[in-house]
Amino acid sequence: MRPHATPRLAALTLATAATFVAPAQAQEAGQLNVICSVQAEWCNMIQTVFARSTGIKVNMSLKGSGEALAQLIAERANPKTDVWFGGTGDPHLQAAEQGLSLEYKSKALPQLHAWAQQQAQQSGYKTVGIYSGPLGFGYNTELIAKKKLAVPKTWNDLLNPALKGEIQVANPASSGTAYTMVATLVQLMGEEKAFDYMKALHKNIATYTRSGTAPIKAAARGETTISISFVHDGPGEAMQGFPVATITPTDGTGAEIGSMSIIKGSRNLDAAKKFYEWALTAQAQQFGAAAKQFQLPSNKATPLDPRIPDFKSIKFINYDYAKYGASAERRRLLARWEKDVNSLPR
Ligand code: G6P
Repeated sequence: MRPHATPRLAALTLATAATFVAPAQAQEAGQLNVICSVQAEWCNMIQTVFARSTGIKVNMSLKGSGEALAQLIAERANPKTDVWFGGTGDPHLQAAEQGLSLEYKSKALPQLHAWAQQQAQQSGYKTVGIYSGPLGFGYNTELIAKKKLAVPKTWNDLLNPALKGEIQVANPASSGTAYTMVATLVQLMGEEKAFDYMKALHKNIATYTRSGTAPIKAAARGETTISISFVHDGPGEAMQGFPVATITPTDGTGAEIGSMSIIKGSRNLDAAKKFYEWALTAQAQQFGAAAKQFQLPSNKATPLDPRIPDFKSIKFINYDYAKYGASAERRRLLARWEKDVNSLPR
C-alpha cells in the first residue's frame, strides 16, 4: 500500500512555497470559508500559503469530524461553508449521502492512491481521500515504566484492571478518531462482542475527550498513561520532546481515509474548486508533514517523510467504508455507544 519511503522532505517554508499577492489583488480574488478537521498547525499553514499564492482570503474554522458534520447539517438551509478539509472519511461519506456536499470530479483523481479514488467513487464524487492513517495506541514511555505496566499489544490488553483510569479516548460523537475505533471494533469482533468490550474498557477510561487528538496529547504530557489514537499523531508530540510512543494492535486495526468535500450551496464555488485542486497536488500535500502531521498523503507523487507509519508492517481489517460511513449505521452505532457505554457508571 505504501510506496517506498523517499528521503526526507526538503524544508518547506511559507516564503518559498508561495508568491506574494498585493492587497488590491487579494480583494478581487475573493474569499473562502473552510472547516478544517486536521490539527491547527496544518490548517494555519494551508490558510497562509493558499492565501498568499492565490490572493483568496481563507476563513478557517477548526472542528472535529463529528462536530463538522453536525455544523453542516445545522447550516443546510443556508450554508456558510465552502470546503470541508480533512477529518475522518466516515462523516464525509455521511455528508455526501445526506446531500450536503457537491459532486465534483477532479482531473487529479488518477494521481491518487486507489483508496482515495475509491472514497470518491463510493460517494458519487462528493468527497475524496486526501490522506490515510492507522488507528492504534499511544503511551507515555516514562509513566508506563514507572507504573510497571506492560505496553498494550492487543485490544484485550487494554482491559487489564491495572489500567483503571489510565486510558483516554475521544467521544465518538464529536471525534472521527473515536468513531473509527467503534467501527473498527465492531468489524473486528462482531457487534455484540465489540459492545461488551467497550463496556469493559469503559472502566479503564479516565475521560472521553471532545477532540480525537486530545488523548495522545495528554499521554505525551503525562496526564494519562495510554491513549487510543491515530498513530500518525505520535511523532509530532515526540518531536516536541515528550516521552510518547505508539503501537498498533497485533490482532488488527482500522485506518481512516481522511477526506475533503466541497459543500453544496457554496457561495464561493470557483475559489472552492481552486482550493480543492490545490489540496490534491503533491506540493500541497507536503504541508501535512511540514506541520508535523504524519498521515500517508493520497497523491502518489508526494515525497514521503520517514515518520509516516509503515502500512506494510500493520495488520489491518478490511474496513468497510461504505457501510460505516452510511448515515443510518453511524447514527445507530453512536446512539448505542451513548446508551450502552457512555451512560454506565465507572
Ligand atoms: C487528527 C488526525 C487526523 C484525523 C483527525 C480527526 O487531526 O491527525 O488524521 O482525521 O484528527 O479528528 P477528530 O477530532 O474528528 O477525531
